[in-house]
Amino acid sequence: MSSRRRVWAEIDVRALCDNLTLARARLPSHTAVLGVVKADAYGHGAVPISRALAGAGISMLGVGDAHEAIELREAGIDTSILVLGASLESEIPALIRHRVVPSIHSPDRIATFAAAARNAGVRLPVHLLIDTGMSRLGVTPERAIEHLSAIANEPALVLAGVGTHLASPDQQAFSREQIARFESVLRGAIIAGVRPPVVHIANSIPLDRYPETCHDMVRLGGFLYGLRPEACGNIEAPRPVLSLRTEVAYLRDHPAGTAIGYGGSYVTHRPSRLATLPVGYHDGFPHALSNRGEVLVRGKRAPVVGLVTMDYVCVDVTEIPDVATGEMVTILGKDGDDTILAGDVARWAGTIPYEIPCRLGPRVERFTVGASPTVETQLAARQLPRDLDRWPSTVPQHLKPQHLKPQGREGSAPRNVKGNPTG
Ligand SMILES: Cc1ncc(COP(=O)(O)O)c(C=O)c1O
Repeated sequence: MSSRRRVWAEIDVRALCDNLTLARARLPSHTAVLGVVKADAYGHGAVPISRALAGAGISMLGVGDAHEAIELREAGIDTSILVLGASLESEIPALIRHRVVPSIHSPDRIATFAAAARNAGVRLPVHLLIDTGMSRLGVTPERAIEHLSAIANEPALVLAGVGTHLASPDQQAFSREQIARFESVLRGAIIAGVRPPVVHIANSIPLDRYPETCHDMVRLGGFLYGLRPEACGNIEAPRPVLSLRTEVAYLRDHPAGTAIGYGGSYVTHRPSRLATLPVGYHDGFPHALSNRGEVLVRGKRAPVVGLVTMDYVCVDVTEIPDVATGEMVTILGKDGDDTILAGDVARWAGTIPYEIPCRLGPRVERFTVGASPTVETQLAARQLPRDLDRWPSTVPQHLKPQHLKPQGREGSAPRNVKGNPTG
């Protein structure tokens, strides 16, 4: 039996590292990159992606929970790891054992982490999350300085960083409000004598739109995976890292008027040659692509006909000459002169590009392709400050103490249900 599964993903490590180089070229020289590898590196495979990023000198890796962090540690990855969101109480001892930096997402976690650190006999570095408008996780800006001081004064904890997350980076007005709320906290913290060494706001979209958010570190996911190249306009776009392929399992000629698949939702309107592909919604080929999606066969588009099932989908190859069983089919990626992007599939399926690789099922085998990181990629690595008690010399000019005066509390602007700022 061949060792290759019937649906496979090619993970182009070279593209990943080139995307990292591209990001670094856009960042100020002091800004480090955290590679977001949560959710199995957006479906790309957390271990191979983290290994490649570690080889390219990434400063930190971001995971969703303790289990994801432990998977990386058990694979021998020694890079600093930050849990981006909440840590559940049951996860805390394992985080400490595996030298993973948690984020404090709620005020009560200060005491919980301190007690766990004392129990383990360590000083635990933590980042504080400030909720400036995402309304998901984090402490309020109004009480952030109080919490920062509490962490700084807690002997069992080390205040290693502070971050916030933009809710709607596509919406300038609201993002600027969030940035202003965050900066107001930073100013207040400096005045209160509390200086978190690593400040971070930006993820992939703000990288280009809000360069002022590139503080000490940016947290990049989608950019590194090349998931939204079409959103880059005139700027050089990152390349997609993941290609998804299968092969033709069965070919059949049908007369006009044949109902295809469950429910007969497609009826051939001419004599048609249909190819059955051994990929279904269990593999991450969305059911919503029924009678809508396209794949590439011999570099040409073949439309999906009938409903996508758990294991199979049919495509119309009538217009593509000489297709044979066993022939490679591209679901995502380049074949010949044409490319199907995650954004295309997302549009057909009515979802977002990030969800497409995240949906890949356990039957999909991942292969790493491409060379290891270039020397230039490694040389471009920027390290986070090692001395966590020292405010880095890279504080943006407008946040330096001599430019600061105490500010009044900022109110929060109401937003409509779509997340648009209303004032
Ligand atoms: C807190 C946080 N930071 C950064 C990211 C990375 O965002 P992106 O993939 O758009 O770069 C995410 C992704 O969901 C996140 O939740």
